[in-house]
Parts: sequence; C-alpha cells; structure tokens
Amino acid sequence: ALVTSTEMFKKAYAGQYAIGAFNVNNMEIIQGIVDAAKQEKSAIILQVSAGARKYANPIYLRKLVEAAIEDSGLDIVLHLDHGDSAEMCKKCVDDGFTSVMIDASHHSFEENIRITKEVVEYAHSKGVVVEAELGRLAGVEDAVNVSKEDASYTDPEQAVEFVKRTGIDSLAIAIGTSHGAYKFKGEPKLDFERLEVISNLLPNFPLVLHGASTVLPEFVELCNKYGGNIPGAQGVPEHMLRQASKLGVCKINIDTDLRLAMTAAIRRHLVENPSDFDPRKYLGPARDAIQGMVQHKIKNVLGSSNSM
Ligand code: G3H
Ligand code: 13P
Ligand code: ZN
Ligand code: NA
Repeated sequence: ALVTSTEMFKKAYAGQYAIGAFNVNNMEIIQGIVDAAKQEKSAIILQVSAGARKYANPIYLRKLVEAAIEDSGLDIVLHLDHGDSAEMCKKCVDDGFTSVMIDASHHSFEENIRITKEVVEYAHSKGVVVEAELGRLAGVEDAVNVSKEDASYTDPEQAVEFVKRTGIDSLAIAIGTSHGAYKFKGEPKLDFERLEVISNLLPNFPLVLHGASTVLPEFVELCNKYGGNIPGAQGVPEHMLRQASKLGVCKINIDTDLRLAMTAAIRRHLVENPSDFDPRKYLGPARDAIQGMVQHKIKNVLGSSNSM
C-alpha cells in the first residue's frame, strides 16, 4: 500500500538502520528499485523531484508508482523531494503523495519556519508527513574553512527550535554532504560530532541525509571506459553512511548512484552491441543495474533488509 514514513522511521530509529529514499524519473528506474526492495523485503521511499515532475509529467510518475505498489504488494512511501514552495507541496498532498519535503533552507531562519509551518498545517490535516531542511548542503567544496562550515552546517540549537516550532516529522541536516558526483576534493569528511549533538538534542526524532550517494569507483570507471568523461568523481564512503544511520539518520537519499549505474550499463551495452537499436535491449540491462545497485545499498549499507 501507499503509506507514510512514520512507522518505517520508528523501526529504523530503534533498529539503527536507515530507509533508502531513491529518486525516480521513469519506468525502468521505478521497476529496478522496487524489484530490489521486493528481493530484500525492505521498506523504501520513492521520491520525485521538481525536475522529475517536469521531465516525466507528474501524473505518469504517480501512476507508475501505483502500478509498482499493486504489482509488488510492498508498502511504499511516495515523497516529494525538495519542494520549492508551499504551493508545490500542497499540490502533491492533493495528488496523493504520502510525504513531502519543503526545502526553504535558503531563506532566513524565520522565513524557513513560516513556510515550513504552512506546509505542515496543510499536510497534517490530510494525513501527510513533512520533511524540512535546516542548514545548506555545500556545493563542490575545496577544504571548507571553519567559518564557512558554521554558516552552512546545521546549528544544533536552531535544529531543536526549528523542529519544535514547525511540527515537522523529519529534518534534513547539513553536515558536509552535497548533491551530485563531486562531493569532496581530497579526503571525504562529514561532521559527525555535529550530527551526534543534534541527534542527542532530538531523541527519537528522524534525521535525513541528502547528497548521500557513494559514487562507487567501479561505476565511474565503467562510464569512463565506455566513452564517458566523469573525472574526479567522489562520494560519501559507505562506512560513513552506516555510522550516520546509527546516529538518528533514518532516511538516506540516493540519486547519483542510480544515475551512474544506469549510465554505465547503457554505455557498456551500446559499445559492446553497436548494431542494437531496440531501446529495450539497453534499458533492460539499465533496469537490472538499478536493481543491483539498490540491492547492494539495502543489504550492505542501509541495513534495511527484512524491514517489511
Ligand atoms: O536533489 C537532487 C536530486 O538528485 C534530484 O535531482 O533535481 O535533477 O531531479 P533533479
Ligand atoms: P545524491 O546526489 O548524493 O544522490 O543525493 C540525492 C539527494 O539528496 C536527493 O534529494
Ligand atoms: Zn537532496
Ligand atoms: Na537510523
């Protein structure tokens, strides 16, 4: 069934594991993720960004997710990723999403609270849960200096006030992760001290880690071997994700790793089979690659196998 993340997060918090939130943009991606979840008997979140809505037309993604639920029999959360306005969040609530993220983190603290509260009031009145963000995910950063970290990473005291005043159901925090395939120059580093302080100040409250792809070297190398050009890509090491999931992080967002797996499979297939031009010939292996990636995440990183 289409469910909210409330029960999933309770179990994940207690069990010190995390639920994977995977970005979806088309049928093959949805099928690959859901097949993996079914194999692992794992709870999952399927999330749709504003860009995905624009690319696929929201109704197609919603209907595909409905099909995946009907076909798999799994409990799945349909989540709006990075909703950029109260209007977009309300639209998704009306459209049947069970969870929405309002990302007003680029506004002032007070404005972030105001916008987030507006979404919470609407969503909760319809039984929908809300994720919001405090602090800013860094862009590509050369060794960030301390003052810059202080300005962009989530402030623990503010996090407590933000949760209390908004009534949100989960909070995305900034501790050094970033979106995309170029997260670190040099040694990967997250601010685990900060995470621990936040987690201790907010007992039993689910935290969310965005920008959490690992950018597995094997898949970057495959892309590059078969005609790609993705030099210097680097993500969050898997052991750091395991550590985060023991410190109150219940939702881990993954998009880039799916993109890399899919692209590597398609590039390889087309190079090795130059006479193929039936899209099913390369989208089939791409779907398998998504499934493999998600199963790896669930089993070896998130720890959510058998959570359903
Ligand atoms: O937040 C970033 C996610 O990877 C979604 O990316 O906005 O290109 O769909 P997108
Ligand atoms: P990645 O780019 O690390 O996969 O992060 C995805 C994300 O945070 C989506 O909201
Ligand atoms: Zn994100
Ligand atoms: Na956890």
